[in-house]
Amino acid sequence: MAPDRAIARQQPPLSGSSLVEQYKRAAAEAAAAIVRDGMRVGLGTGSTVAYLLPALAERNLSGLRCVATSPATEAATLALGFRVEELDAVGELDIAIDGADQVDPRGWLVKGGGGALTREKIVAAASRLFVVIVSAEKAVAALSPPVPLEVLRFGARRTLAEVGDTRLRRDPAGPDDDLKGPDDDLESPDDDLRSPDGNLIADYLGPVEDAASLAARLSATPGVVEHGLFEPELVSYILIAGGAPRRDGGVGVERREGGKSG
Ligand code: 5RP
Repeated sequence: MAPDRAIARQQPPLSGSSLVEQYKRAAAEAAAAIVRDGMRVGLGTGSTVAYLLPALAERNLSGLRCVATSPATEAATLALGFRVEELDAVGELDIAIDGADQVDPRGWLVKGGGGALTREKIVAAASRLFVVIVSAEKAVAALSPPVPLEVLRFGARRTLAEVGDTRLRRDPAGPDDDLKGPDDDLESPDDDLRSPDGNLIADYLGPVEDAASLAARLSATPGVVEHGLFEPELVSYILIAGGAPRRDGGVGVERREGGKSG
């Protein structure tokens, strides 16, 4: 089915014309321009990706085979008339496109603000080309906490103590002790308190200067399903939109190379 242009124009529900929103849209549109019909495309999660989906729909790429990293992205992708498949049915991806919470000058990313970090990392790793789309304020001189963690519910308190300097994301309207809540205590699986696979989401709040050794330590901690540090070798390039709007209303998009060759 061809993407529905009417729906495309409605997505996402724009809250305003703030500069950051313009930047997100510009980065997303620059990434959409790279995608060719028939590609197997991994789709990230978040408000920047929300601009990517209608930009793809506008291009009438009816032959795309999409893999979504969250129920929210899957629903939005299906609503635009695209075909969404399981990663295992598609196998290797031609391109994956996703946002990030922080991007440092070496190409390290912090991701997982939306709680979908594990799926996002799997999809990035499965893709020949991984393109990151961010507004300029995400490009930082040095990474800083929080670093999102996906944590298995079993023994979660012990796991978080082992990591140290962590905070469980809590639902203010939820039970007093989130660790004791039932697995299905959330109305929506799409929020940032649980991963799309039902695991807990916490944030590591300690030092992040040495991203490689922190990533190795987090990966080696039993019970940490995944962490939000993405190494430069996962990233093909980063599209960073920012600067003063041009006369035509557009904004500049800088391309920063990552460590993964296409
Ligand atoms: C979700 C993510 C997002 O890509 C990240 O949080 C950036 O989100 P946004 O585009 O809304 O700023 O990692 O798990």
